[in-house]
Amino acid sequence: MSELIIFGSGGHAKVVIEAVRARTPDRPIILIDDDPSAAGRVVLGIPVSGTRDWIASNISGSPVALGIGNNRGRSELLDWLASEGCEVEPVVHPSAIVGSTVSIGAGAFVAAGAVLIADSKIGEAAIVNTAASVDHDCQIGKAAHIAPGVRLCGNVSVGERSLIGVGTAVRPGMSIGADIVVGAGSAVVTDLIEAGTYAGCPARRIDA
Ligand SMILES: CC(C)(COP(=O)(O)OP(=O)(O)OC[C@H]1O[C@@H](n2cnc3c(N)ncnc32)[C@H](O)[C@@H]1OP(=O)(O)O)[C@@H](O)C(=O)NCCC(=O)NCCS
Repeated sequence: MSELIIFGSGGHAKVVIEAVRARTPDRPIILIDDDPSAAGRVVLGIPVSGTRDWIASNISGSPVALGIGNNRGRSELLDWLASEGCEVEPVVHPSAIVGSTVSIGAGAFVAAGAVLIADSKIGEAAIVNTAASVDHDCQIGKAAHIAPGVRLCGNVSVGERSLIGVGTAVRPGMSIGADIVVGAGSAVVTDLIEAGTYAGCPARRIDA
């Protein structure tokens, strides 16, 4: 089995490592991180092997998974890996329920207990986190993050790099644009178009 390079060594990388081990316990994992403070770090028993320069010398062509939680950073990393010709793998925890008509983009992550069904599309580098649910016909944009316990009803769209905060509920058919943050525990009952931060029940703009 080919080794997997995981880019990142913080909290989100831990979650990704666990998911890879749950699916393929014997798969070798290499950790890479650009953050200088990560040098010498050991995460769940795996030492950080180097920075992105290490990838340039990765002549074996091992696939890469994305282990960083910041949405913009993850998006830019995906673009860089593509420009380097790297294969970028999605990671799906084996306890997630993923319908046969759901598509999952390169570098996306689906965490333990998530439920994704019926024609939903999970964009490249997107995260559907622990026990979140994504109902039929949802569209999750590139590098968006659906946080733990979020409930997306059917036909919801979430734009690129947006974060839907933990435990939020989104009414059927709502459109949430790009670069939007929805605060923890919110209820989205109208479309959210402009980039910015929204929170509450119902979710309203809090940074304007
Ligand atoms: C919405 C959020 C981004 C705002 O963070 P912030 O910019 O630091 O804002 P503050 O904490 O200073 O709060 C600003 C105001 O918004 C309110 N507010 C913040 N988060 C809120 C929320 N989730 N719901 C309702 N009101 C909220 C605060 O009470 C405060 O109100 P006040 O001005 O009347 O006192 C943050 O609170 C949040 O919920 N983040 C989501 C985190 C998450 O789910 N991460 C996923 C990890 S896997």
